[in-house]
Amino acid sequence: MLVEVMVDYDAVSERAAELVAQQIRKKPDSVIGFATGSTPLGLYKRLVAMHRDAGLDFSKMTTFNLDEYIGLLPRHDQSYNRFMWEHLFEHINVSPERVFIPNGMADDIDGFCAWYEEQIERVGGIDLQILGIGANGHLAFNEPGSSLGSRTRIKTLTAETVVVNARFFSNLNEVPRFAITMGIGTIMEARRLLLLASGESKAMAIQTTLEGPVTAMAPSTIVQMHRHAHVIIDERAASRLKNKHHHGISEPKPE
Ligand code: PGA
Repeated sequence: MLVEVMVDYDAVSERAAELVAQQIRKKPDSVIGFATGSTPLGLYKRLVAMHRDAGLDFSKMTTFNLDEYIGLLPRHDQSYNRFMWEHLFEHINVSPERVFIPNGMADDIDGFCAWYEEQIERVGGIDLQILGIGANGHLAFNEPGSSLGSRTRIKTLTAETVVVNARFFSNLNEVPRFAITMGIGTIMEARRLLLLASGESKAMAIQTTLEGPVTAMAPSTIVQMHRHAHVIIDERAASRLKNKHHHGISEPKPE
C-alpha cells in the first residue's frame, strides 16, 4: 500500500490526475473504473483540462462506473450516469460505446449485474479503479457488513448514507434506498486501486481503513489486501493516522 499525504484537496486532485493521465498515456486502451461523489470532482476537472489544453486522448479508453441508484432515470439530475457525463465524459473524447455505468432502471437487476461483470471480464478487467470512501467505511455502495468477496449486485443503503446523500436531493424521502454496486470482490480484481479522501470528515474512516483490522464492518479495510493500492489523502484526512511514516514517503526511492 502506498499512502501519500498531500497538503490539501487540490494537491490530492493534482496527484490523482497525474496518475490517471500516466495510465492513459502508457496504455491508451486502458480500462478505468470511475467513482462519483464530491471527492473525484477536482480530478475530473483536471482531466478535462488535460484533454482540452494538452490533447490527452481518451478515445480508446473503456470505463466502468462503480455504482448507480436504483429507480433514477439516467438523465435524472442526481443519477450517477448524469454526474459522469456532466463532470467528465461530455468534455473529453471518450467513445460512448465504451462507457459502462450500472443501469438503475434495469427490469432484471440480477441479470443486469451478471452482464456488467461479464463486460468487465470481456475487456480484460479494470486497469485502474478510482475510489472514494464513505465516512462509514463504505467503498462504492458496499456498506458495512458487505461481504468482502461480493460481486456486482443490489444493495440497501444504510440510513447514514441516505442522510449524507440527502444534501443532493430536495428532501430525505427522495433519496433512493437501493443501489447497484460493484462488489468488493469486483473492486479487488482491478489491477490498481487509487483511493482518494479529503477533509476531517474522512479522518476516522481513513484511520480504520489503513490501520484497523480488515473487517466487513468497514469494507474499505480490504484495500490492505490489494497488491497495488495507492491511497492519496490530504493532511486533514490523515490527521488521525497513528503511523506518521506515510508523511514524506512519496520521496523517490533509490534506483
Ligand atoms: P464523497 O463520497 O466523495 O462525496 O465524500 C464518497 C463516498 O461516499 O463513497
